[in-house]
Amino acid sequence: MFDSKTPLRSRGFYVRMRLLQNSRHSRIPEKSFWYRFFKWILWFSLAFYLVSSFLITHTKPTTFISKTTVSPSKASRALIEESSLKSSSLQQPKSPEGLLKGMKVYIYDLPSKYNSVWLSNERCSNHLFASEVAIHKALMNSDVRTLDPWVADFFFVPVYVSCNFSTVNGFPDIGHARPLLASAIQHISSQLPFWNRSLGSDHIFVASHDFGSCFHTMEDVAMADGVPEFLRNSIILQTFGVKYKHPCQDVENVVIPPYVSPDSVRSTLDKSPLMRRREIFAFFRGKMEVHPKNISGRFYSKRVRTMIWQKYGNNRKFYLKRHRLVGYQSEIANSIFCLAPLGWAPWSPRLVESVVLGCVPVIIADDIRLPFPSAVPWSEISLTVAEKDVTKLGKILEHVAATNLTKIQKNLWDPNVRKALLFNNPKKEGDATFQVLVALSEKLDRSHKRSNVSSQ
Ligand SMILES: *[C@@H]1O[C@H](CO)[C@@H](O)[C@H](O)[C@H]1NC(C)=O
Ligand SMILES: *[C@@H]1O[C@H](CO)[C@@H](O)[C@H](O)[C@H]1NC(C)=O
Ligand SMILES: *[C@@H]1O[C@H](CO)[C@@H](O)[C@H](O)[C@H]1NC(C)=O
Ligand SMILES: *[C@@H]1O[C@H](CO)[C@@H](O)[C@H](O)[C@H]1NC(C)=O
Ligand SMILES: *[C@@H]1O[C@H](CO)[C@@H](O)[C@H](O)[C@H]1NC(C)=O
Repeated sequence: MFDSKTPLRSRGFYVRMRLLQNSRHSRIPEKSFWYRFFKWILWFSLAFYLVSSFLITHTKPTTFISKTTVSPSKASRALIEESSLKSSSLQQPKSPEGLLKGMKVYIYDLPSKYNSVWLSNERCSNHLFASEVAIHKALMNSDVRTLDPWVADFFFVPVYVSCNFSTVNGFPDIGHARPLLASAIQHISSQLPFWNRSLGSDHIFVASHDFGSCFHTMEDVAMADGVPEFLRNSIILQTFGVKYKHPCQDVENVVIPPYVSPDSVRSTLDKSPLMRRREIFAFFRGKMEVHPKNISGRFYSKRVRTMIWQKYGNNRKFYLKRHRLVGYQSEIANSIFCLAPLGWAPWSPRLVESVVLGCVPVIIADDIRLPFPSAVPWSEISLTVAEKDVTKLGKILEHVAATNLTKIQKNLWDPNVRKALLFNNPKKEGDATFQVLVALSEKLDRSHKRSNVSSQ
């Protein structure tokens, strides 16, 4: 339904067809000794071919797996999950089923105007807010999905609110987010009894842009609006998270990473391996206002990026660029430290990009709440610099480079850590969708089905 790339299985089918044809061609009517001898040789080589092709697909799984989209049968899904498990099995004492406590999620089948219609713009499934699309796709193909809403613990409402790129600057207009969500809820609550039954408390939404479930890009407006009334009982998966009380997280929530395409990461790492010699000491590319304007009482990045530019713009060890560049991922893969200062919101895709490309993230965003703390040991793999200390950045990084940099890199380059921040389709054991499910499995007290069982 979502993707038209050739699935893996059809390749296997193609190979099998060719083999059948070969063996049919060899069916010569004359049954001489030589024919039987030849036939044995053929069977032997056929068996050898099958065994070796099996071994090849099973020792080199990841590059192919990412290209499969829909896994039509349980069997093939099991194979895929098993092969992708290999590297993660060390840190997973429990089976995925055990870890997820048999949780089941029902996905509403909404009219296309709420979701798939937006995919006609390719950016919709690739830009930094695309986790709303990625999680939906991954859940559709996941074992936790149930088609029977009566046995579901949770109800996923797939509304894509970040894909209206019609504005002049090309940034998504999320002005329609609230009405679109309200209308989706109106739709599901009139069709099925589950929303009314719990008033939405077992329903899940994704809010993947700047200030999460407040659906506005400017913090003052976002805060004034707050979480829409109709979502306040539900569970929100959102990129925004801070450690203090904030109106935009005044709702049951899970902090998720921003979306970075696993394919782009893989192709960057193919060209530029993780453990290469890194030539850039400290890297930042992005918006850095030289004279930030006071916009309703706030300055972009609380002036942190401006101070970095002023203090380190001419420092040879700092590679700072103010304009976007398509190939910037290869710059990250070539850097030791990658600065991740706040923008308007505290989070940015740099957090994910630097981790997955093995560059030590330098987080400059006071009190940010980071995604999946139980899977990603942030304090071991990154550095945190207080906003007020940004002018001491040079000294701090030099000190770390001279003391514990190797240790941090070793922690950071653990494949389990880097995997936890990427959304794959189909989902992989330990990846970002998997971590979302683990977090949801800790909220099963909201499951109507289970509360009913335990109250009997
Ligand atoms: C998309 O955003 C524009 C404003 O930028 C708005 O006029 C339009 O109605 C939006 N489209 C939808 C389908 O919500
Ligand atoms: C859910 O409640 C709303 C508002 O009270 C009502 O209009 C709707 O018909 C109810 N849905 C179902 C399926 O009963
Ligand atoms: C920023 O502008 C607001 C008015 O919009 C004003 O009240 C505030 O004092 C200004 N802040 C600074 C630091 O200039
Ligand atoms: C590395 O050193 C820095 C500065 O001394 C310290 O803040 C950080 O916690 C250390 N990190 C690790 C993983 O040892
Ligand atoms: C439990 O489920 C039964 C049958 O599905 C239903 O009649 C009953 O009202 C439920 N009880 C609670 C507490 O939800």
